[in-house]
Amino acid sequence: MAPPRSPFRPSFGTSPPLVSGRDAILAELGDALDAGPGAAGRAALLTGNRGIGKTVVLNEAEALARERGWLVVSETATAGLLDRLTHDGLPELADLMRQAPSSRRRVRGFSLPSGLGGLEFELPAETGPGGLRRQLNALTDVLDEHGTGVLVTLDEVHARDGRADVAQLCAVVQHAFREERPVAFAAAGLPAAVQDLLASDVSTFLRRARRFVLEPLTPVAAEEALRVPILQAGREVAEAEVAAMALATHGYPYLVQVIGDQVWRQDPAAPRITADHVRAGVAAAVREAGFALHEPAINDLSEGDRAFVRAMAEDDTGESSIADVERRMGRDHGYVSRYRARLIVAGLVEPSRRGYLRFTIPYLREFLQSRPDHF
Ligand SMILES: Nc1ncnc2c1ncn2[C@@H]1O[C@H](COP(=O)(O)OP(=O)(O)O)[C@@H](O)[C@H]1O
Ligand SMILES: [Mg+2]
Repeated sequence: MAPPRSPFRPSFGTSPPLVSGRDAILAELGDALDAGPGAAGRAALLTGNRGIGKTVVLNEAEALARERGWLVVSETATAGLLDRLTHDGLPELADLMRQAPSSRRRVRGFSLPSGLGGLEFELPAETGPGGLRRQLNALTDVLDEHGTGVLVTLDEVHARDGRADVAQLCAVVQHAFREERPVAFAAAGLPAAVQDLLASDVSTFLRRARRFVLEPLTPVAAEEALRVPILQAGREVAEAEVAAMALATHGYPYLVQVIGDQVWRQDPAAPRITADHVRAGVAAAVREAGFALHEPAINDLSEGDRAFVRAMAEDDTGESSIADVERRMGRDHGYVSRYRARLIVAGLVEPSRRGYLRFTIPYLREFLQSRPDHF
């Protein structure tokens, strides 16, 4: 018999076998759908670092909406957003609503509320913010009669090239809110970049959205995210091993998946996961994170950014003082401050206390230290 396959999902944007530690957020998002127009959580803005689980929360919110018979349009805040919505996103929802009841089954993941299939109605074939608004109005006029609505999710809301479109989408959604239409909106992005976006004049609407800051998982939640999939996939694991794996994740959801996966793969045929599997698996996972998480993050950086993170990586403690970075780079305070701000926006570093910075991603320091000449 082939050994059981790893249940873990070590890649970005894919839902894990168990979504752990996000119950409170998801309950609030679900309640907002039930509560009706005007409920605070109908506009939600999720922030958190790369790999913390933002896309997964958006996916879960979409599932909650579908369970309630809502329609969902899922987008990324890149250039062309508005065109995609008016050409594809909303027309596809209209197609769904026109589907005859007998063909409903074939629509993946959807159960349209009773009476919503087979509707005869036309969506205005228009583009631009005005077109989006008229399309959304046409859809929600019908959905409202059936007691449901539309959830719009927007990932990577910090992407710079999508800014103008994000502003226009927000204005349309805000207008729908004002008219008490059944529309919900959930967006996600990197914390400092979103801060930057909110400080610009993009949208008072986003500024008023309910903010959820995604934190690393608590030790208990990280343990659950590791233990439950292992047991469900048919292997045994003692609590000491679960605790050791969870500790190595630093509560970082991406690392939960990579560590779980690598520990599993040490000897998938063994009925029980041992301390040796954990040791070797964690080491392999940190190497994998080097390729999949750390290296791409560093490759995105300019020369100046890299010099900055190299200077930070000289410290062996969890944080670096700005003064030390200035000295090591041989640059003045103004120069270093500019790069500090850039790296915060990129989601790579964060202030730990006044005058100090730390890396946001676990093992990034060790990664940089292990490749002194590479970057
Ligand atoms: N609550 C969670 N419990 C367990 N694993 C999670 C959780 N949230 C995310 N993950 C896993 O973490 C990784 C990163 O999640 P993702 O949503 O892509 O992060 P982000 O969008 O913040 O960069 C994925 O492998 C995902 O399966
Ligand atoms: Mg994401």
